[in-house]
Amino acid sequence: MKQLILSLALAASFLCCNSVAAKDIAQPGSFKVGNKTFLLNDKPFVVKAAEVHYPRIPREYWDQRIKMCKALGMNTLCIYVFWNFHEPQMDNFLFTGQNDVAAFCRLAQKNGMYVIVRPGPYACAEWEMGGLPWWLLKKKDIRLREQDPFFMERAEKFETKLAEQLRDLTIQKGGPIIMVQVENEYGSYGEDKPYMSAMRDIIRKAWQAPDLTLFQCDWSSNFTKNGLDDLTWTMNFGTGANIDNEFKKLGELRPNSPKMCSEFWSGWFDKWGGRHETRGAEAMVDGIAQMLERGISFSLYMTHGGTSWGHWAGANSPGFAPDVTSYDYDAPINEAGQVTDKFWKLRKAMEKYSGDWDPNTGKWVSPQQGGRKRGLPAVPKEYPTIAIPKFELKEFAPLAAGTDSIAKMGGLMTFEEMDFGWGSMIYITSLPEIPVQSILQLDAHDYAQVFIDNQFIGKVDRVKHEQTLKLPATKKGQQLIILVEGMGRINFGRAIKDFKGIVSAPVITAEVDGIATSWTPRQWTKCRIQDDYASAVKALNNPSAAFLHLTPLSIREGQGGESGYYRGYFNLKKTGDTFLNLENWGKGQVYVNGHAIGRHWYIGPQQTLYVPGCWLKKGQNEVIVLDVMGPRGERTIEGLQKPIIDRLNLDRPQTHRLEGQTLDLSGEKPVLEGEFKSGNGWQEVKFPQPVSGRYVCIEALNSHNNREYCCIAEWYMLGADGTRLSREPWQVAYCDDEDITSGNKTADKIFDLQESTYWSTNRGVQFPHHLIIDLGQDQTFTGIQYLPRVEAGAPESIRQYRIYVKSSLFKGL
Ligand code: GLA
Repeated sequence: MKQLILSLALAASFLCCNSVAAKDIAQPGSFKVGNKTFLLNDKPFVVKAAEVHYPRIPREYWDQRIKMCKALGMNTLCIYVFWNFHEPQMDNFLFTGQNDVAAFCRLAQKNGMYVIVRPGPYACAEWEMGGLPWWLLKKKDIRLREQDPFFMERAEKFETKLAEQLRDLTIQKGGPIIMVQVENEYGSYGEDKPYMSAMRDIIRKAWQAPDLTLFQCDWSSNFTKNGLDDLTWTMNFGTGANIDNEFKKLGELRPNSPKMCSEFWSGWFDKWGGRHETRGAEAMVDGIAQMLERGISFSLYMTHGGTSWGHWAGANSPGFAPDVTSYDYDAPINEAGQVTDKFWKLRKAMEKYSGDWDPNTGKWVSPQQGGRKRGLPAVPKEYPTIAIPKFELKEFAPLAAGTDSIAKMGGLMTFEEMDFGWGSMIYITSLPEIPVQSILQLDAHDYAQVFIDNQFIGKVDRVKHEQTLKLPATKKGQQLIILVEGMGRINFGRAIKDFKGIVSAPVITAEVDGIATSWTPRQWTKCRIQDDYASAVKALNNPSAAFLHLTPLSIREGQGGESGYYRGYFNLKKTGDTFLNLENWGKGQVYVNGHAIGRHWYIGPQQTLYVPGCWLKKGQNEVIVLDVMGPRGERTIEGLQKPIIDRLNLDRPQTHRLEGQTLDLSGEKPVLEGEFKSGNGWQEVKFPQPVSGRYVCIEALNSHNNREYCCIAEWYMLGADGTRLSREPWQVAYCDDEDITSGNKTADKIFDLQESTYWSTNRGVQFPHHLIIDLGQDQTFTGIQYLPRVEAGAPESIRQYRIYVKSSLFKGL
């Protein structure tokens, strides 16, 4: 009997405390890595974290969003700290108001939530430059995320300033912070343990907390590349993933390590010009239930996504795919903090796991045994939404009125050289006499509109890989004016070193009297236009300061207005959240009562911008639209009660098969044919001998399990030395079939660096399928690497295949 009582007592002491009450975390405590489990105050603990980003939520709403996460059954909040948000100019550190990360952590604690901090210095997160400050690029040759002395010195300074804010909030000191991450997914950037070690040391030193648990997150396919012996390793993967596979390697290398999915992606982000992304609720609930059944910790990315206000949205690469303003992410708590169908389904499932995890039995037991109440907290109230009747933006100032700095003549300069991060630049040069039509070669980041003597000639859009434009015959002395708008800096992959403006000297070429002739203008006037509220107000208060009036496309088409600043007002009797409909407008930024609420672009899929009611007021409210293209129709806006984030408005289809194209492979000889294995994971095949060419055609003859369609998650070509070739210049030259019905499964997903996204053909469309990659130039290769979908059973993976390589495009295209 005595023994029984003892073992009951022991078992009870080993039950973990997953249902957290506010009082539990006010006392100094501990969070450690135990045997196959995390230990919170020496008891097993399963982290159920909600990823939320405080900069993406108005401070006034932090509390409601935290309570929403708690109502989902989460016990922890997982936050990135974006360096550029806290140090927008070098040595100007911001930690108050919206930037008060310590206040956010304290609020979390008040609500009975723990906090995991991810201080970078790099984050990714579809945030401008992945969280790195643009001013690092003022050192032109900087090596970002490497042991470049300037990068390391600045990163250390930031990490130290941040730790000064947070180091008293660790669990060891009675605060809510249980873990801190070092860097972010370094495996998809490079292989550099010395750099990772140096960053770990910087963070450890800054936090002055020897007992603080530090961890790394990566993918199961690459975490060993940079895994440090003394840090905890966690894996990132999305819904549908085979959970056992994801942790297999970790289990082999560290059999006693607790398991955690540090980013469980149950939605995805949207890009301008791409379809709105969604992911099913069932797969999310199933994945989380599977993890909790095994006592695996997780962070749900995103539980609430929020909004990338102002110019904070980043861009993806390879290529250039700027992210939209909304970071709704198809998350269970939507952009406006409202519950969704996904929310209710998840809450229901999480209820089952609201008790305590007993690692001895592998079961969740009712918390009542530990004296706590069962069930989840009540769902907090949502903020009310309002509609705002259509109003007109009558005041106008031309774009050039927003110029705050001019560099006369001399060579080209980027934004960074003109010492600013965000906005537009106007470049002006004098043209020579060119009696015939010519071609302008222009490498502009990111959206350039070209004018001759103020008349719109055409645009060069980096998103579409455009770099040339036809110019009409010109007279000597005519002015070539190039207006370049910068969008978000790339946040993923090697391309994060993303300068803005004209990045290499434009060249004009023409054939004059049968002779190929070229001109490289050397003397440029450069005008800086910052996209901030102060510049907009200054321009509107003095529109006559504009030294040029550009006539954009919309006016030439007889429907819109000039590019510039438009201001209007609306009156409110009561405030509430609203969604401003920008469908009449071109492309630019919007400010409401001085708050930069984000980018708009008519191409969609996002057409409305979320405005939280806490930034509105009773009486008169001000709206300014900075439109670099000019409005396309009426200069009006209305506020809707529901968002429109899924309406594309494209002049070309997103698919890669042009009308009339039918690939003809007759007479072509494959350089390789074979059969891929079934199952998950990377496969590598070597060619019998090296081959050269620019176009690589992948032919899928059928798929495993006799599926009606096929998919590829990632694809690499191996170079002469057997290593992966850079995919930066890659484009899809052709693809016979792409599924664009549900989110983002187009052919370019095979080289988007994301293992969790993939190309898919449509169900029932007959094999064979063909996808042709344009590598940009002739290259020599020795093999390929192929990754099927990461989901269990590798659904729709290709079985028999052939590969063709050519230097010129295939017949029929
Ligand atoms: C990775 C990054 C995140 C985010 C997601 C995609 O996992 O670590 O910051 O960019 O991809 O949303």
